[in-house]
Amino acid sequence: MPITFVPETQTFYLDTDNTSAIFRVYDQGYILTEYWGKRIHHADLTRLQKVYASGFSPNYPGAVDRSWSLDLIPTEYPVYGGGDYRSPAVQVQFPDGSRLLDFKYHSHRVLEGKPELPGLPHLDGADCTLELTLRDDYSGLEVVLSYSLFEKIDIIARSARICNKTGAPLKVTRALSASIDLPRADFDMIGLYGAHIRERQLDRTPLRHGIQSVESRRGASSHQHNPFAALVSRETTEFSGDAYGAALIYSGNFVISAEVDSFDTTRFQLGINPFDFSWKLEDGEEFVTPEAVMTYTDQGLNRMSQNFHNAFRHHLGHTRIRNKVRPIVINNWEATYFDFDEEKLFGIIDCCKGLGIDTFVLDDGWFGKRYNDVCSLGDWVVNKDKLPHGLDPIIERCEQNGMSFGLWFEPEMVSEDSDLYRAHPEWAIHKEGRPFCTGRCQLVLDLANPEVLEYLKKALSDVLANHRISYVKWDMNRHITDAYSSALPADRQPEIYHRYMLNLYALLDYLNKRFPDVAFEGCSGGGGRFDAGMLYYMPQTWTSDDSDAIERLKIQYGTSFAYPPQCMTAHISASPNHQMGRVTPYDTRARVAMSASFGYELNPLHLTDEEREEIKNQTARYKKIAPLVTEGDFYRLISPFDRNCCAWMFVSPDKRRAVAVYVQKLGVPAWPRNLVYLAGLNPDARYRIEEMDGEFYGDELMHAGIALPWMGDFQSASFTLEQID
Ligand code: GLA
Repeated sequence: MPITFVPETQTFYLDTDNTSAIFRVYDQGYILTEYWGKRIHHADLTRLQKVYASGFSPNYPGAVDRSWSLDLIPTEYPVYGGGDYRSPAVQVQFPDGSRLLDFKYHSHRVLEGKPELPGLPHLDGADCTLELTLRDDYSGLEVVLSYSLFEKIDIIARSARICNKTGAPLKVTRALSASIDLPRADFDMIGLYGAHIRERQLDRTPLRHGIQSVESRRGASSHQHNPFAALVSRETTEFSGDAYGAALIYSGNFVISAEVDSFDTTRFQLGINPFDFSWKLEDGEEFVTPEAVMTYTDQGLNRMSQNFHNAFRHHLGHTRIRNKVRPIVINNWEATYFDFDEEKLFGIIDCCKGLGIDTFVLDDGWFGKRYNDVCSLGDWVVNKDKLPHGLDPIIERCEQNGMSFGLWFEPEMVSEDSDLYRAHPEWAIHKEGRPFCTGRCQLVLDLANPEVLEYLKKALSDVLANHRISYVKWDMNRHITDAYSSALPADRQPEIYHRYMLNLYALLDYLNKRFPDVAFEGCSGGGGRFDAGMLYYMPQTWTSDDSDAIERLKIQYGTSFAYPPQCMTAHISASPNHQMGRVTPYDTRARVAMSASFGYELNPLHLTDEEREEIKNQTARYKKIAPLVTEGDFYRLISPFDRNCCAWMFVSPDKRRAVAVYVQKLGVPAWPRNLVYLAGLNPDARYRIEEMDGEFYGDELMHAGIALPWMGDFQSASFTLEQID
């Protein structure tokens, strides 16, 4: 069993294949964090906990001696009120106004597998789970800390359950999913920041004393920051060095922070953002936090990412789609925008015949009176001016041409100019009588209101149940402002953001169960909600509204820090590209898009015969390499953030097959020798490379490298490896 409790020393040992986490019940029941890092023997690490008394760090009641202060000791789930001035993991307010807490060990149990996280997306298939119950004796409040171990992939999933057993209601004002104190401060913090059409750029900065955080206050995980962060040693590279990674399975307001105290301890925390949050918990009720996914490796950033990839590919979401190759999609957005009718769509669909594309997705504009983005969101009935015979003829036309049909929705939104808003203005998030913001001329529906949830279940089911729809693109094109719900009483208003998320998850759960054969794709103005919470219900996300292959190098490279490539949708779009105006060769656009869930975002009517042939070759090649993209280990080789080029590769789990891609950004005059070093191969095996003559040892390719020919702007190369028996 990878979870061991030693009663004599009151120590818990949590072991995965390559990591250990150690903590123990100390004086009076405080939980002392002793270690998290590379796997070690079950040592007694009490000797490391010698702290020296510090002025102004108060001693807790009955402390062993004057050196023992909660301000100084590393702990698993810190509280406020007892002398620890660093950020707590939990805060509450009791009916008498008191906010004081003192959590101590109460009990624990070890379970096989892992219990469900009610109403929240979560990993499954853990080897075992430790549930550690802490209790505040004064009030009777309990918290159950849950640690689920995934031994083979070095993942620990953590969450907390706050159980009100106090006999009265209370207010939870902060409830993080995990907190860990690490005994060093010489870390760099890595986060993913960005903007619409420039998501998940890499940020790596040294920690300093004080707090550094990434967070969202927008009601969605957002383009701006992603619910992932890592603490890494200064010298950590893609292939070596310490990396502590954390990702939150949540799509709403979050925070991930690293706080370095005066004694060079780093407190690493993540969970629901306490900003503008509180939750009234009645006596007998529980509040369950989202799940945090934590990993450690001493093998650098690639291994850290692979641990996350393995967790999200094999343990997240509906088993039916997990690790299945996704359909090759053609989406009409950049082909037509809002300007289409039945005839035009027929033309596009007919033109796809024989290209090897699996699914045609009809994007925005098919409903209500939608000719532009100022109206009709909420009115999920077919626009009869554009499509006089409804969706069925479009679907039939797709099927006649060998494709299935997919449809775009933006369910969480309402336009002011819509029948839905005219009937139910109170269903939009805003405060009646107070001027409110719009974004893209629309408002956000108040999913904290159960009536809205029921309306959306019905509106979406009506479309899905009555048509042969195999694919849904689920968009979300603005963030929440004017956070006020007409369905909540005054003292529950700060619950709006989290209630919104819970009901959104309930809606997605309902639709996934009712329509198990529909593949859902997430989207939020591109990659504004690229998080593990959404991936639980919708196993891929439109990575960015920027479809330019060169911009996508950074976006996809950054995204891969936490999320597997198969979860990123990447399409070949027209050249010049609509967002950047850049002209990029077809094969470079293909190589970038094929390193993800692949498709097209262009008008096939504009293709030359030569380009049609190229597309046939691309779809055939993708079908060949898709198992590698889906099941293979992904390695980042050269960072587009550091260099004028980018390279990455996929290696099959048995290391017999691999595909590597190199992309040159700008061409360089007087080309120096340019080598790319592969990774993850079997060093002793010999490989054939489709694009090169000869046979090569794995170690030769990894350590001596491949020499690249001269390349001009935006040119690229790929290498398709197969082991020779
Ligand atoms: C968002 C999406 C696009 C497209 C448009 C439609 O911007 O990211 O892919 O669906 O909405 O309005």
